[in-house]
Amino acid sequence: MNAREKEEYLREYEILKKKGKSFFPYAIMKDSVMMLIVAAVLIVMSIVMGAEQGPKADPTTTTYTPRPEWYFFYLFELLRVIKPPALVPVATIGIPTICMVLLLLLPFYDRGPERVPWKRPIASITGIMVIIAMALLTYKGATAGAPSEIELATAPQYEKGKALVAESGCLACHAIGENGAHGGLGPDLTDIGSRIPKEAIKQSVTIGPGIMPSFQGLGEKNLNAVADYLASLNGED
Ligand code: HEC
Repeated sequence: MNAREKEEYLREYEILKKKGKSFFPYAIMKDSVMMLIVAAVLIVMSIVMGAEQGPKADPTTTTYTPRPEWYFFYLFELLRVIKPPALVPVATIGIPTICMVLLLLLPFYDRGPERVPWKRPIASITGIMVIIAMALLTYKGATAGAPSEIELATAPQYEKGKALVAESGCLACHAIGENGAHGGLGPDLTDIGSRIPKEAIKQSVTIGPGIMPSFQGLGEKNLNAVADYLASLNGED
């Protein structure tokens, strides 16, 4: 902006300011009335329509898939794609905080008088890119597999055992491939088949060594399916 433009801008600003109304009480009055209307509508809706209640919480479930509300899917996905535990606080606290601080400081570092989007390419492109990134992360988060899912490919005859392992809560303590608890209580099972024979695996799952619970309750057939599946894991995809 050159000196002449600036003068013109300031003159126009003065004229508009004279025509305008003061923030107090005019703008405050408008905002307060709108706030009261919104609050009243919410109260009436909650009295008349009530809120839908989900099923009762079951503390013993091992197949429950925890999911955030849809508007947190982008954060949820960010957390999912960032694997190293040390970087998790960066993703969940660091990045959103930096973005919010940048947004808060916007009037201080963007001093340009332009309002039209195509005359402020940097701001427009940044804004569009943030929206695209959030939309993409939200979509990926919404369609992500359950945390109790094993993404490692398996021969068809082991699918049953794989499903049993996935839904029995093993991944809370063990890692299999990319999934499960890396650095959890139990050893990584990705190559368990190359470390111990099938019978030993079955024995472990049946009795539950150390702090691992016994999975005898799965029944003989299921235990065999689980052992067959785990014995097929040799660490090579
Ligand atoms: C509460 C955590 C926990 C759960 C749940 C759990 N495990 Fe374990 N598992 C362990 C721990 C800890 C060990 C090592 C125990 C030891 O050797 O003292 C282990 C050991 C094993 C071993 C032997 C590994 C080896 O290298 O010798 C196998 C196989 C195994 N678990 C399979 C399973 C399967 C299959 C499931 C699900 C049906 C399961 N585990 C569920 C904690 C768990």
